Amino acid sequence: MTRIWWRGKNAGTLKRGGLVEVIEAKPNLDDIGGLECLKRWLSQRRPAFGAAARDYGLPVPKGLLIVGIPGTGKSLIAKATASVLQLPLLRLDMGRVFGGIVGQSEANLRSVIRTAEAVAPCVLWVDELDKACSGMAGSGGSDGGTSSRVFGSLLSWMQEKIKPVFVVATANDVSQLPPELLRTGRFDSMFFVDLPDAKERTSIWEIVIAGHHRDPRSCDLTALSKETEGFTGAEIEGAYREALHEAFAEGREPTPDDIHTAIAATTPVAKLMKERIEALRKWAKGRARDANTATSLADATSRPSRRVQSMN
Ligand SMILES: Nc1ncnc2c1ncn2[C@@H]1O[C@H](COP(=O)(O)OP(=O)(O)OP(=O)(O)O)[C@@H](O)[C@H]1O
Ligand SMILES: [Mg+2]
Repeated sequence: MTRIWWRGKNAGTLKRGGLVEVIEAKPNLDDIGGLECLKRWLSQRRPAFGAAARDYGLPVPKGLLIVGIPGTGKSLIAKATASVLQLPLLRLDMGRVFGGIVGQSEANLRSVIRTAEAVAPCVLWVDELDKACSGMAGSGGSDGGTSSRVFGSLLSWMQEKIKPVFVVATANDVSQLPPELLRTGRFDSMFFVDLPDAKERTSIWEIVIAGHHRDPRSCDLTALSKETEGFTGAEIEGAYREALHEAFAEGREPTPDDIHTAIAATTPVAKLMKERIEALRKWAKGRARDANTATSLADATSRPSRRVQSMN
């Protein structure tokens, strides 16, 4: 990730360690395994940013909320959104918005909005939105109403904004999200990212191995996919890196045995957070679109390869 210096009016907001950073290294959709439904949605939205869409009478796209299991590629696809839309990517650090003297948080948010609108058209990525919501009274925390006011301002801006700033927000813990955030009209769509199924894991293995400068054809991807049932993309990458470290320490290339050992040593989050994941799936059913496949969430229970129970 690289940061650039901004010499404009809102330089304080964009500078290193500021509220917003410009991310230059953006993955492409080809760098992401699975998530076909979300990828298709993004590709379809691309023309909606152009003048032809305005002439046609389409509103400026507002944004996208991506919720799901940790390590399943939410941040990755949020970044890829900017590549698909061919727009600059700004990352908003919500943690930095809060703090300082009374009224500072609200002023910080106004500064962020001014910056994003000055850069527009752009993608504003709000990562881990749930963490920023934890201070809100409705979610059990209390900070004198600052979080609620800041979120109120963010939501009103999202509702009313005219400038083409596409907001992509990601979250794991939906219980922290205020209901008003989920109301229709805030985002164009909400997607739920589940654990990858067998086909998606094969594609993630291929991407991960190629991403580490090795030929995926030298590995039995189908076997690896089977062996990593219940793994997230992050865990697949973690296991492969572990195997690389093992081999590198001995001055050789990784063997299938190194990979098997690294997989066996991994306890997937799906096993550790079984109940939370089930609750998340239940919450998403009927509320969010399934990012992984074209299947609706109503049918998700009939996808045994992605079910956490199958790991027992
Ligand atoms: N579908 C995928 N395709 C390819 N790589 C993936 C995929 N999912 C995860 N990864 C790998 O795992 C890393 C971590 O993924 P990412 O940060 O996007 O997950 P996340 O869902 O945002 O997790 P968190 O909820 O913890 O923020 C990525 O940088 C990538 O290397
Ligand atoms: Mg993330």
